Amino acid sequence: MELKIFSILALGVALSSAGRIDLGLKRKVDMGLVAEAIIELPQIIGQIQSNKTLQALSGEAKVSALVITLKDLAFTTQSSIVAQAVAQDLEVKQFRAANIILVKGLTTSKLAALGKSEHDFIIREQHVASVDGGMATSYQNISTPQWGLAKMRVPEAWEITRGEGSVIGVIDTGVNLDHVALGVNSFAGAWLDPFYQTEKPTDKDGHGSHVTGTILGRENGIGVPPAAKWIACRGLDHHGIGSEASLTECAEFMLTAKPRPHIINNSWGGRSNSDWYQQQISAWRDAGMVPVFSIGNSGPGCESAKSPGDNFNVIAVGSTKEDDTVSHFSSRGPTANGLVKPDFAAPGSDIYSCGTGSDDYLFESGTSMAAPHMSGAIALYLSHNKNATFNMVYNAFADTAVCLPIGEEDESCGLPGGNTSCHNNAIGWGLIDVAAALKLRSG
Ligand SMILES: *[C@@H]1O[C@H](CO)[C@@H](O)[C@H](O)[C@H]1NC(C)=O
Ligand SMILES: *[C@@H]1O[C@H](CO)[C@@H](O)[C@H](O)[C@H]1NC(C)=O
Ligand SMILES: *[C@@H]1O[C@H](CO)[C@@H](O)[C@H](O)[C@H]1NC(C)=O
Ligand SMILES: *[C@@H]1O[C@H](CO)[C@@H](O)[C@H](O)[C@H]1NC(C)=O
Ligand SMILES: *[C@@H]1O[C@H](CO)[C@@H](O)[C@H](O)[C@H]1NC(C)=O
Repeated sequence: MELKIFSILALGVALSSAGRIDLGLKRKVDMGLVAEAIIELPQIIGQIQSNKTLQALSGEAKVSALVITLKDLAFTTQSSIVAQAVAQDLEVKQFRAANIILVKGLTTSKLAALGKSEHDFIIREQHVASVDGGMATSYQNISTPQWGLAKMRVPEAWEITRGEGSVIGVIDTGVNLDHVALGVNSFAGAWLDPFYQTEKPTDKDGHGSHVTGTILGRENGIGVPPAAKWIACRGLDHHGIGSEASLTECAEFMLTAKPRPHIINNSWGGRSNSDWYQQQISAWRDAGMVPVFSIGNSGPGCESAKSPGDNFNVIAVGSTKEDDTVSHFSSRGPTANGLVKPDFAAPGSDIYSCGTGSDDYLFESGTSMAAPHMSGAIALYLSHNKNATFNMVYNAFADTAVCLPIGEEDESCGLPGGNTSCHNNAIGWGLIDVAAALKLRSG
């Protein structure tokens, strides 16, 4: 028996040094259903993280070295398989924020030819993701500033900063540049559109505009840091669907954009317990950027957190209502790996923000509405505490979050610190308190 296990392991090792074709992909290519795929090579981010020369750098010098070294490492390992793909007349797009290649034009015979290559890689279908959509609500109580900002004690923080100097990167369906709350004064100029190549930011779906309004909209008390600026990448199309290629293109854009964002707001996700975006996120973290993700709208059951929000190296945000209860839809932890998630909660039900016109607003609910409150709060924090690290940001909010009571069902998702601790799988460390995180007097 032991011998048998040993021989299976040995076979596994032998196989891993040759190319592998995912069987599901092969079946679809054979049937003519799919003609593109991802070639995934061994991860390179570990070599970045263990590179002492690179890690000893800081600021701009570190980010330039990071971008160059990522490209060197990725393109070196990719060169031979790329040459073979080109020889097969396949269209090729190389990435570096993750060690992957997009190939287009596959047929059964071309796929088989690629698979014969003697390198360590897998050819598989692209991962896809979609926006954690907002749901329109019938709530109609408008106050300025909006209730979500009041709840997080944002107006008190405005006494010391309105987010001057902070830049937030938005990976979403686009942003409505023509909206009066989002226009020329708050757009920092950088935009990439992998889907439609528009010259300037647009947003047909409206999701990205609603989110960006909450992050920093300048009218009607909707935006948390109204003096912050945004840049954006359309990683999700007009239907709210994104691909591994479009989202990786956005990841690379965020690393090289001018200005480079301090915070990246992501309100999209896929299934749970999936780590395909981990390399891209690690690159952002190494570049000193703070990734914020919504935890998903698959609640209220335990273990309903979505990826990449369930990843250890992001700040994942759940949603609360005006009455301080947890929103029904908000995904709960723990993750498949036993992590407590979300990390924090922020207002996400009945949120008033920008529409797709030039001066229109609507109420929506979703963890997509909670995450931008967190992104905006971090923008205020970083405006006041320049160059603060991810851990400083995380701890400032964790140490000051407001412990809200949760129901028995939510307690049953696990209380890692015991029933006297506030840390739980419905609201993480609690509802964020921006004034307290900025060390203003307590409310
Ligand atoms: C923040 O970092 C930049 C670039 O490394 C540096 O020029 C600046 O002085 C730093 N600011 C503070 C307040 O430490
Ligand atoms: C480590 O980083 C430095 C500085 O970016 C780079 O010149 C060097 O090639 C890197 N070494 C490896 C093994 O990637
Ligand atoms: C409307 O909002 C105000 C200010 O937040 C609050 O005091 C009031 O109770 C709200 N009214 C309703 C009907 O929710
Ligand atoms: C911000 O992130 C949240 C949560 O991931 C998401 O729902 C929202 O759409 C994002 N907003 C933008 C403008 O990207
Ligand atoms: C908290 O846990 C302790 C020890 O497990 C238990 O005795 C106590 O009844 C619990 N309290 C509540 C309010 O559930």
